[in-house]
Amino acid sequence: MRNIDEHNITDAVIARLGDGRDARLTEVMTALIRHLHGFVREVRLTEREWEQAIGFLTATGQQCDARRQEFILLSDVLGVSMLTVTMNQSRPEGATEATVFGPFHVDDAPHCASGADIAQGAPGTPLDVHLEVVDLQGRPVVGAEVDTWQADEEGLYDVQRPELGDTRRARGVFLTDAKGQVRFSSVLPMPYPVPTDGPVGQLLLATGRHPWRPAHIHFRIRAPGFAPLITHLFHEGDAYLDSDVVFGVRSSLVAEFERVGHGDAARHRLRHRFVLAPAQAPGSDLPA
Ligand SMILES: [Fe+2]
Repeated sequence: MRNIDEHNITDAVIARLGDGRDARLTEVMTALIRHLHGFVREVRLTEREWEQAIGFLTATGQQCDARRQEFILLSDVLGVSMLTVTMNQSRPEGATEATVFGPFHVDDAPHCASGADIAQGAPGTPLDVHLEVVDLQGRPVVGAEVDTWQADEEGLYDVQRPELGDTRRARGVFLTDAKGQVRFSSVLPMPYPVPTDGPVGQLLLATGRHPWRPAHIHFRIRAPGFAPLITHLFHEGDAYLDSDVVFGVRSSLVAEFERVGHGDAARHRLRHRFVLAPAQAPGSDLPA
């Protein structure tokens, strides 16, 4: 086909997908091309803006490494992550709701025994966490893997502190005991801005958006026979609960981080019960 113009190019590109062996890939690519071309036509994209877009995506990729995932951050701030979660994670009544995974999980977090102090020197007010993992009938889920990670009181994850090298802190992986419970100590998380030193942060600033997330702790809970749960617990009263830069707050995930003691003896206490949905629940297709 020759003499392509702005009106027939979309059909011409989609027509080239004809030999795809993966029907789902063909479906996704057809829609992607249609919407992408529609977007380019709608904004009347200039060649200069095309160059800027290529530069932005290139910089986003170059910002990624084993410790930083700028593309997840881009997806998060554009609401794509949360849109995907809400479409795929409709759970039965009573099951704990899911939210975004975020860019700060690592695969090599230390495996800890219940009762461990995962702070490992992270700055912050001590926090005692007592979790329970149950099924929809309230029965304990024994041996569930509870992977948790969080920022410290300066709003930084360990992977954002180059001075720590490969040292992991304020994160850990636990197994629930015979009562379906896990206890650990950590530090009280504080609100933090997502990284603003990369292309996604520049995009936020250029579009007049603040970069803050309300204080939270991340959890990924997995157990045989249950849908994997990726979620957070947010700090009740946080100023950013209604303007989370990644749109991840759900009312059911806001918890009380109760203050106990005063002065130097001040601690906080968090108790929460996670309710897992069975693996066969609709939309439970997150990778295990
Ligand atoms: Fe986070």
